[in-house]
Amino acid sequence: MIKKLIVKASQIATPKGSHAKFGEEMNDLTIIKNGVIVIEDGMIQEVGPAADILRSYDSGSYDFVDATEKCVVPGFVDSHTHFIFGGYRPDEFYMRLNGASYMEIMNAGGGIQNTVNATRSSSFDKLFQAGLDRLDAMVDYGITTVEGKSGYGLDAETELLQLKVQSQLNEAHPVDVVSTFLGAHAVPPEFKGRNEAYIEFLIQNVLPKVVEEKLAEFCDVFCEDGVFSIALSRKLLQEAKKQGLEVKVHADEIEQLGGAELAAELLAVSADHLLEASDYGIEQLKNSEIVATLLPATAFCLNKRYADARKMIDQGCAVALASDFNPGSCFTQSVPLIFALACIQMKMTPEEALTAFTLNGAAALKRADSIGSIEPGKKADIVILKYPSYKYLSYHTAANLVEAVIKDGKIVKQLAPNKRYAEV
Ligand code: NIG
Ligand code: FE
Repeated sequence: MIKKLIVKASQIATPKGSHAKFGEEMNDLTIIKNGVIVIEDGMIQEVGPAADILRSYDSGSYDFVDATEKCVVPGFVDSHTHFIFGGYRPDEFYMRLNGASYMEIMNAGGGIQNTVNATRSSSFDKLFQAGLDRLDAMVDYGITTVEGKSGYGLDAETELLQLKVQSQLNEAHPVDVVSTFLGAHAVPPEFKGRNEAYIEFLIQNVLPKVVEEKLAEFCDVFCEDGVFSIALSRKLLQEAKKQGLEVKVHADEIEQLGGAELAAELLAVSADHLLEASDYGIEQLKNSEIVATLLPATAFCLNKRYADARKMIDQGCAVALASDFNPGSCFTQSVPLIFALACIQMKMTPEEALTAFTLNGAAALKRADSIGSIEPGKKADIVILKYPSYKYLSYHTAANLVEAVIKDGKIVKQLAPNKRYAEV
């Protein structure tokens, strides 16, 4: 059995609990000075100040991790990405910088369809290798659980292929990969102008296979003006629920369409983006269990206004932060950029931002009972920062502060091992 003690942490900073934190509660971090974490068999056994804990452990049988002058936080949970894709779209990035809008590029046959073409002509092995590299990059940023969506196949074969790649990656790589079926990401050329027929095709021909082969836990839809209407999004998500999937919504990203309201109506697990969410939509979210997942790096890359995190939290919503990593609207996996944008642009407090990227991210994946905080009984998914306080996460702007990552009790990233983690 692997037994580990993380000792001498300048501070352990964590939200607590097995549910999302709403509104003001997002500020309730527990801070333990000179903290110790006891890990056995991949799970957290005990957490507390050294004086309380060390005397009851036979230190001879534990590996020590010395976190002197370091802050220890829960592993980050990136609850919204599109990380399995073929090809890249640098030209579109520069077209946008020169004034073209995301939807103009999409309507002209580029955008998501561009990546669909490249993904359809890719192979399992290529997608798998690229996935491994991207998961390694996530570990580097302290991500220990990631959600990934299909949506670059838009036909049965390639949608299932993307999800199979994710399922294999989940087995092969230490990062936990959670899958979402996003067949309703765009209307493929085969169904041009026949959005309803495409949704019907997904319901009849793809969704049942996804469910039967247990390839996804969630179903999502790009509910957007000119993509999938409220009515068609509702139709697909209701069917997904009937078939046993939980649902998520790409809601009010570009236009105010009522995606937040739809998420509330369907008791979705999360409503994501919300840049243009209406006051009524926010009101609906705060009266529900739904996590409002905000993706500030997308707003940054698209040069759009940020979602109104302050209003959402002040009104009592549960806000999560995630990357939206994808080859189009947001080609970055940078966790530190997101922390910086959350605090500088969206006016979140550092406590809210940490809760949003850990426990509330876990809640957006229905996993708040097993990850997202440093507490006995949760998985030992832990990040050690190079600095003594979580406050450096935004203050040391856009710098990667992650010094070590522990996933399921095992060290998966460690800087300068000989120097920094000599046994004590
Ligand atoms: O969340 N808006 C839809 N989906 C992604 C972008 C996907 C892409 O451009 O490839 C998003 O922004
Ligand atoms: Fe997205």
